[in-house]
Amino acid sequence: MDPSELASIRGENNMVNLTIDGKSVSVPENTTILEAARQVDIHIPTLCWLEKISTTGACRVCAVEIEGVDRPMTACNTPVKEGINVTTQSEKLAKTRKQIMELILVNHPLDCPVCDAGGECDLQDICYDLDVVRQEFQADDVNPATINHWPLIQQVPNRCILCEKCVKVCHELIGADALFVNDKGDRAFIDKKVENCTYCGNCVAVCPTGTMISKPFKFKARPWTLRKIPSVCTYCPSQCQIDLNVLNNKVLRVTSNDEGTTNKGTLCVGGFFGYGYINHKKRLSTPTVGQNPASWDKAFDRVVSEIERIKQESGSAAIAGFSSPRLTNEENYLFQKLFRVAIGSNNIDSEARFGALRSLQALDNGLGLHGSSNRLAAIGRADAVLVFAANPTAEAPAVDWQIQDAVRRSSGKLVIANMRTIHLTQFAESQLNYKPGSEVALASGLGRLLLDRNYLDEDDLTRTVANLEELKADLAAVDLDKVVEETGLSLGALEQAADIIGQAEKVVVIFGSDIFKSALGIEKSAAVANLAILSGALRSEGGIFPLDEKGNTQGLL
Ligand code: SF4
Ligand code: SF4
Ligand code: SF4
Ligand code: FES
Repeated sequence: MDPSELASIRGENNMVNLTIDGKSVSVPENTTILEAARQVDIHIPTLCWLEKISTTGACRVCAVEIEGVDRPMTACNTPVKEGINVTTQSEKLAKTRKQIMELILVNHPLDCPVCDAGGECDLQDICYDLDVVRQEFQADDVNPATINHWPLIQQVPNRCILCEKCVKVCHELIGADALFVNDKGDRAFIDKKVENCTYCGNCVAVCPTGTMISKPFKFKARPWTLRKIPSVCTYCPSQCQIDLNVLNNKVLRVTSNDEGTTNKGTLCVGGFFGYGYINHKKRLSTPTVGQNPASWDKAFDRVVSEIERIKQESGSAAIAGFSSPRLTNEENYLFQKLFRVAIGSNNIDSEARFGALRSLQALDNGLGLHGSSNRLAAIGRADAVLVFAANPTAEAPAVDWQIQDAVRRSSGKLVIANMRTIHLTQFAESQLNYKPGSEVALASGLGRLLLDRNYLDEDDLTRTVANLEELKADLAAVDLDKVVEETGLSLGALEQAADIIGQAEKVVVIFGSDIFKSALGIEKSAAVANLAILSGALRSEGGIFPLDEKGNTQGLL
């Protein structure tokens, strides 16, 4: 998020003028010197800073001089001030940064030639940049043992510089709280609660040294030998940006780019570690006819002759095709073309009929939508998020991270309406554990409370709803005593949720498969769509998001 975007979320629009290395810069108040410098392409070295997490201020390598201040200041956590004059390059600073690096290198093993991070290690790069060529300082060597009992990740603690990036991504982005700093001073180390770990690999991805290592990638290749092929992860509808790291036609690891992507380089276990199947020896790599491997020509001949035989015996309609929400739009387009044009059958179906199709029908009928009404990033900027009958952590992890972003960065409030307690419940201001099957009653009850408590935006609704008076009359007829009885929720809990939704400017409604895969899926989806209208979620900065766990259900339908 760039400083001006963050500032507008924080409601800070006052601009501050300063000079950095002779360049004039104007940035919103509370921008740091580091962010301001980046805005005018001035590079300040960093080790512990990462844009997507809160500032730690642990390494001090980002030291800069401010005219009139007698000691160097850390650029990553010093806010700009009107009229200050900042210097980022000087002999004195070079010496200071070099000493800082030499102190960081105390006890750091000199095993770069065999370290898996060699070639993409920030510590190594900064040492080169600052001409740090020897370990000047000595200390008792603690030399903790390598930790191997963690599945998928190896931890080599004696390479750790305690920058805390791993701890912060684990806590602030994933919400797993698996990592923490244990002990103090020179005995401090990164410890973990393995039982909390989701194996997302983000601690590996952000570690600026070779401390957190991916076991499946270890010793497979040097980073500079890998070709990065940009792609998207298709495991879930978040569609995170990924780079397939390829050598000799084999995918050896998956990484993601922090810059310019909605997922900001963050992946879940599926995206980060779930590539083994591509080169797995048990994966079918040639066609089979019966149980026997065959050439593509032979396999195609068999398929064509069988289709011809069935057509002659029973007609084209006897042939049906079942497609997948994991395919791309182009693949599904070609699939339906094959059936409709080449084979002559309109019998095409998919598993979406038993789930997502219902929600999309309801959204189409009620709102004229063919999927989500906004981009994923809108969730992270919401003032209130209602997660209704969905478990984003399991179904679309990047949606979970956006929700956590809304709660942490934008002080958004979270309402969880679910039959079960889910991972996100811990961040919720309001928790509605309703009785199974009472989704329509719950959505209608919340709608009635939005009306009763004067939260409806009449101007907005008059513009967007054709039969507003009818809708309001329906809402007024909702019996709240019955809602309480059907849902098993107290009136107070319902009112609290309605207040959170009603008072918010940017509202996001996310609903999931407990609604559209259940009996009465269309009616339940329609009730949620009505609630979205009433809550103002269809305004430009809000959104309604039907959440299906498959990668491209929206494209398929
Ligand atoms: S793999 Fe993910 S959840 Fe586990 S410790 Fe690392 S960042 Fe935390
Ligand atoms: S393990 Fe890596 S990311 Fe974590 S504190 Fe150590 S050096 Fe930093
Ligand atoms: S959140 Fe979804 S799209 Fe992103 S890496 Fe995980 S499975 Fe892939
Ligand atoms: S990058 Fe500023 S203190 Fe580490």
